[in-house]
Amino acid sequence: MPAIVSVKKLRKAYDTGFVALKGIDLDIEEGEILALLGPNGAGKTTLISTICGITVPTSGSVTVGGHDTIRDYRAARSLIGLVPQEINLEPFEKVENSVAFSRGLFGKPKDPAKVAEILKLLSLDDKAGSKIKELSGGMKRRVLIAKALAHEPRVLFLDEPTAGVDVELRKDMWNVVADLKSHGVTIILTTHYIEEAEAIADRVGIISKGEILRVQDKTEMMNQMGRKELRVDLTQPVDAIPDALSDYKLALSPDGRAVTYTYDTRADRTGIRRMLNDLDAAGLQMADLATQQSSLEEIFTSLVKEQQT
Ligand SMILES: Nc1ncnc2c1ncn2[C@@H]1O[C@H](COP(=O)(O)OP(=O)(O)OP(=O)(O)O)[C@@H](O)[C@H]1O
Ligand SMILES: [Mg+2]
Repeated sequence: MPAIVSVKKLRKAYDTGFVALKGIDLDIEEGEILALLGPNGAGKTTLISTICGITVPTSGSVTVGGHDTIRDYRAARSLIGLVPQEINLEPFEKVENSVAFSRGLFGKPKDPAKVAEILKLLSLDDKAGSKIKELSGGMKRRVLIAKALAHEPRVLFLDEPTAGVDVELRKDMWNVVADLKSHGVTIILTTHYIEEAEAIADRVGIISKGEILRVQDKTEMMNQMGRKELRVDLTQPVDAIPDALSDYKLALSPDGRAVTYTYDTRADRTGIRRMLNDLDAAGLQMADLATQQSSLEEIFTSLVKEQQT
C-alpha cells in the first residue's frame, strides 16, 4: 500500500539562514501512530507545519494521499487535521459552534450529526452547548482535537498534545489517540516525553538537529538497540563488590542485597555465564535472577549523543 504521507528530501532553511530540516525522508503508513521524538529545537514543529503545507519547504516534496502539498494544496490539506500546541480558542464561543465552524472552513456541508459524533468521540457530548471559557484545560485540548477532526481528515497531526499537562490528563489524551486510531485515523504526534512514545506509538522517529536519526517499529527499536540489565539478588548482603569482579562494572544496590550487570544485547557474547561463575567464585551466592530491558529513554539519549560527537 502506498504511504498516506510521503516526505522526500525535505529541506527547510528559514530566512535567517538557519537550516531547520536537513533533507528529511519519511513515509507514513495509513492507520499507524507515529511519534516524532526529539529535543527542543529539533525541527518537529517545522516538519509538521511543512507537511501540512503551512510552511513552505526550501526544497524537496511532500504528498498526502498522493496530492502534492504545494501544487495541490487544497486536496492535500483537506485530508489533514492539525492540532496546534497552543490553545487558541474563542472563549465565548460554544463548543459545538466552534467545531462546526472549523468544518465550514474546509467547505464541508453543515452536518450537526457529524459534529455531535466527533464531540462524542472526544467525550465532549455533554459540553456541546457550553462556552469554551467554562471548560477545563483538558477539555479545551479535546476541543482543539475535535476542531481538527471537524472536516473528517484521514491524517491527524498533534503537536505536543500533552506538553505541560498533568499525568492523569496525559493518560486521558493517550486514550483519545488510541480511540482515534481504532476509527481509522492515521496519527502523527510530536513529543519530547519518551514515555509517551513508548506508551502509544506504533513507530518512533527520532529527530534531532533537523535530521531523522532513525525511524522504526517501537518494539523492534527497543529490542535491537536496547541494553539489558541482569539483576542478581544475593542470599547475603555485601558491603562492597569484591575487586575480583571489577571488570564487570557491577552496580550494588543501596541495601547491598543485589548487583546489577548491564550488557549489550547486540554483542556476540553477553558475558553473563562468566560473570555468574566469577560471582560464585568470589563467594557471592545467588538467590534470584531477573532481566530488564533498558528504556527508550536510554536509546534516545545515546543516539542524540552519538550525533553530537
Ligand atoms: N520562523 C522561524 N525563523 C527562523 N528560525 C526558526 C523559525 N521557526 C523555527 N526556527 C528554528 O528552527 C529550529 C527548529 O524549530 P522547531 O520549532 O521546528 O523545533 P521543535 O522541535 O518543534 O522544538 P520544540 O520542542 O521546542 O517545540 C529551531 O532552532 C528554531 O529556532
Ligand atoms: Mg515544536
